[in-house]
Amino acid sequence: MSPPTHHFDFVVIGSGIAGLSFALKIAPRFRVAIVTKRWAAESNTNYAQGGIAAVTGGDDSVELHVKDTLAAGAGLCRETVVRQILTEGPSRVAELIELGMRFTEEEGESPDGERHFDLGREGGHSRRRILHAKDATGREIERALLAGVAAQPNIRVFEEHFAIDFITTRKLGHSGENRCVGVYVLDKAAGRVETFACRSVLLATGGCGKVYLYTTNPDVATGDGVAMAYRAGARVANMEFVQFHPTCLYHPKAKSFLVTEAVRGEGGVLRTVDGVEFMDRHHPLKSLAPRDVVARAIDSEMKRTGAAHVLLDITHKPARFIIDRFPNIYQTCLKFGMDITKEPIPVVPAAHYQCGGVVATVDGETAIAGLLAVGEVSCTGLHGANRLASNSLLEGLVCAHRAAEKMLAAPPDFSELQMPDWQLGKAQNADELVVVSHNWDEIRRTMWDYVGIVRTTKRLERAQKRIALLQEEIQQYYWDFVVASDLLELRNIATVAELIVASALQRAESRGLHYNLDFQKADPAWAQRDTILSRAR
Ligand code: FAD
Ligand code: SIN
Repeated sequence: MSPPTHHFDFVVIGSGIAGLSFALKIAPRFRVAIVTKRWAAESNTNYAQGGIAAVTGGDDSVELHVKDTLAAGAGLCRETVVRQILTEGPSRVAELIELGMRFTEEEGESPDGERHFDLGREGGHSRRRILHAKDATGREIERALLAGVAAQPNIRVFEEHFAIDFITTRKLGHSGENRCVGVYVLDKAAGRVETFACRSVLLATGGCGKVYLYTTNPDVATGDGVAMAYRAGARVANMEFVQFHPTCLYHPKAKSFLVTEAVRGEGGVLRTVDGVEFMDRHHPLKSLAPRDVVARAIDSEMKRTGAAHVLLDITHKPARFIIDRFPNIYQTCLKFGMDITKEPIPVVPAAHYQCGGVVATVDGETAIAGLLAVGEVSCTGLHGANRLASNSLLEGLVCAHRAAEKMLAAPPDFSELQMPDWQLGKAQNADELVVVSHNWDEIRRTMWDYVGIVRTTKRLERAQKRIALLQEEIQQYYWDFVVASDLLELRNIATVAELIVASALQRAESRGLHYNLDFQKADPAWAQRDTILSRAR
């Protein structure tokens, strides 16, 4: 029997802040499928700690937020995009609150009867402007958005469904404009590939932290969206700018646990394992310097001392304050036998955020008609060469709204094209599954060792050769066997690794997050120049 073909007005791939926000906005008029590869809440969004950066008054202004964002972006942000997103941010945040999002409020009675939110501070921000829900902001965002989705009859959520590839007119053999008309999706439980036909696909698959051995990201972050879009002919930009978060918990049993930058915002100090403060030797803002500077400083201190980690110390603050402000971190560390009110936290840098991605406008439009990209998967020009902390949730929220407005104003037509079923491969040979896990490890280790915080051209070239060999092997394996999600993810991380390395090799300078010892300075010739990759056809 042939697998079902689903018909929806819009198919949204991903259930983080970008995908859910778009679905909620479009659903009053259109039928929407949300396809997500694990359970609905599982996403980078769900693990966000620090919060959402948005100007909410007091001594702050959009102009200051713009200035901070441009400074972090190291000459590569698109200023018009930065202004649009940061100006619209406060209204979108207000809508989120209306939907039911509970941000932490200031303690005590409000003098004017208004609600006042507690504003956090993070590296690179000249003002306190981070709205947060204690130190588990993302969990609360997902709760609020998913409650909204549950109340919307026009939305159907397909959990444990893995988007494989877009169906485009070009792939169907039609000439003229390349248009996305649907997507092939693996129903993991049924083990079959289904066809989703729609007016437009919204890609909101988040980032690619899992391309690296050590990451703050959950397992779902395998860069599927960038790989799919690249295969389909979209343009991909600035993939060399991988943001490493300076402070991921260092503990053999802690997998990918972040210690929010807000800990430093509240006075936390970085020290070597001997207890010596070191950031004063690296930047005037010390522990609150921009993220790229802090990550590089930690990397250099670890190399200098030979230690496996550094320490983040907030023990000088009252225990009650620490437990109340950072309950998630306090409880998690306690589980691992550490009381952060009494002892410093062992931390290391880890891959955290993809600043590049599928080239998209602030309305989500890409080079392929019918394919929108919003959130971490996209590259709009907001982040430039280095994202300012807590600007990404905001980008997802604002661009999802704008994409929905655009679709509501001028909805694309349904395509009348016949879409063939996905061609399944042969039976799976269980003996060979070891290849998948081996290749996974090899790519992630190669990326960590050769394409990490500090790069050299020689190491990048070495990585390029290894990844090319692995890709050949994966391609062979992919065509020979039945599709399974771990194999699909492997193919995608290999593609994303290839794109990161190719972009890093192109950029013959050091700028923002891309630091190459062979070109240690920023080259003015590269200012405002994106590294764009697109598959030759
Ligand atoms: P995500 O939230 O990552 O959602 C992607 C979705 O796509 C997931 O549901 C995933 O399962 C699904 N998916 C992926 N591939 C497929 C596929 N092939 N088929 C079907 N579904 C698929 N940013 C901030 O602004 N402030 C913070 O405080 C902050 N803290 C962070 C803390 C951590 C630990 C991490 C990891 C990130 C943090 N970030 C923060 C970054 C921010 O969380 C993300 O950039 C943002 O949430 C991305 O949202 P998104 O909707 O684009 O993608
Ligand atoms: C953090 O809480 O440190 C993460 C903030 C971010 O990545 O924007």
